[in-house]
Amino acid sequence: MIRDGLTFNDVLLVPKKSEVFSRKDIDTKAYLTRLVSIHVPIVSANMDSVTEFQMARAMAENGGIGIIHRFLSIEDQVEEVAKVKRAENTVIEDPYTVHPDYTLFDARRFMESKSISGAIVVDDKKKLVGIITSRDLLFEQDDRKLVKNVMTQKVITGEPRISLDKAIDLLHTHRIEKLPLVTKAGTLRGLITLKDVLKRIKYPHSSKDKKGRLMVGAAVGVKDDTLKRTDALLRAGVDIIVVDIAHGHNTRAITTTKQIKRKFGKKCQLIAGNVATPRAAEDLIKAGADGIKVGIGPGAACTTRIVTGVGVPQLTAIQDVISVTKKLKIPIIADGGIGNSGDFAKAIAAGAQTAMIGSLLAGCEESPGEYVMENGSAYKHYRGMASYEASSEKVRIDGGGKDGFWRAPEGRSGKVPYRGKTSGVLNDLMAGLRSSMSYLGAHNLSEFSKNAEFIKMSPSGMKESDTRLD
Ligand code: XMP
Repeated sequence: MIRDGLTFNDVLLVPKKSEVFSRKDIDTKAYLTRLVSIHVPIVSANMDSVTEFQMARAMAENGGIGIIHRFLSIEDQVEEVAKVKRAENTVIEDPYTVHPDYTLFDARRFMESKSISGAIVVDDKKKLVGIITSRDLLFEQDDRKLVKNVMTQKVITGEPRISLDKAIDLLHTHRIEKLPLVTKAGTLRGLITLKDVLKRIKYPHSSKDKKGRLMVGAAVGVKDDTLKRTDALLRAGVDIIVVDIAHGHNTRAITTTKQIKRKFGKKCQLIAGNVATPRAAEDLIKAGADGIKVGIGPGAACTTRIVTGVGVPQLTAIQDVISVTKKLKIPIIADGGIGNSGDFAKAIAAGAQTAMIGSLLAGCEESPGEYVMENGSAYKHYRGMASYEASSEKVRIDGGGKDGFWRAPEGRSGKVPYRGKTSGVLNDLMAGLRSSMSYLGAHNLSEFSKNAEFIKMSPSGMKESDTRLD
């Protein structure tokens, strides 16, 4: 017997009696793994045209999370994670510093590489001797000058255990942007910045770890260096590791999941995938996965189903996998195929806690993809991670692994419309989700999936659903 497989455009959600009137009545808290939750159930895809530092920061600031892709050397991937961890912090425990004998050229280069607007100047014994900011450098023409001759020497400081209110008071009273925290002996112990304090007010629902730093995830593969990579990422403070391969129901994915959990235990919140069947999810959960990523071939840049004939339409895949993950209390991420807020709402209604998004976010300002103008319209480049272009680059970076290049490309590269700021795209998706929850009388995600009744739609039903206006 051949089963039916359905995807987002084949169904609609049937409206239910509702007492939900305003967005205040709706809670979208979602679990990514057994232990980690976020307020905006959207994850940016671990793809090299979607998530590096800038995107991951924007995602976490707005309540979601980004997963840094793995097409980077271990050092570079760790650096992307470290930049997010430092991007917003109530107290930066280990601020970037420069030496007073640095040249301005070195200081500028250092500040650019770390994406910071100023650095604390400390001597060999970590004693604070000054501060240098882009303001100090603005009119300096001679880059051979030394930092000690240009830096601001009189620095307002706080004590290491200063309260946030006191810190805000000092930042305000002295009209300063950075407040280094130093011991009585003058040794640097931390930093509070005006930018971070303001962000705390601007983004009350941002995704933060226990130390008040933005959350970020990172993807790893199933190669020989995976444990080393995972270890380095965890040391840099990564919150989630995603074991990500095209076919997650592969013994290498199961073994890798086991090895990571055996070595790092609870310290490592681990999502494994991608899968499209309950059996695959069960095997990965038995191996230790704390979250499961679902999606074989629904992505906008994917050609897996065309090239291999393999896959499960995404809505059915989510519903099938949910049948086991619900019993085992493991959340799933619906990965791929989200083209609008209606698709997103359907994925969550079907029981996914979060959705991973590639193409919609690839068009945002914060994605690493190249910006292009064509015939007066703006685009950004987007490519599948199994596309010929991405795979050949990977071969250049790390030799492509033992298997070399035996697989046929299973993705395409192309362009997507430019969509402006990530926050705008997230707002639109969340507005659609909240309205959908209100139509179904749901105050939270668990009520949403409980109240969800899908109705199958004919092609003319779909035609009727879409606008017929120009
Ligand atoms: P969307 O539809 O949001 O999907 O662009 C993003 C997801 O697509 C997957 N992905 C691929 N799948 N070949 C595939 O079959 C590829 O080259 C490829 N690249 C990305 C991935 O799961 C991503 O999160």
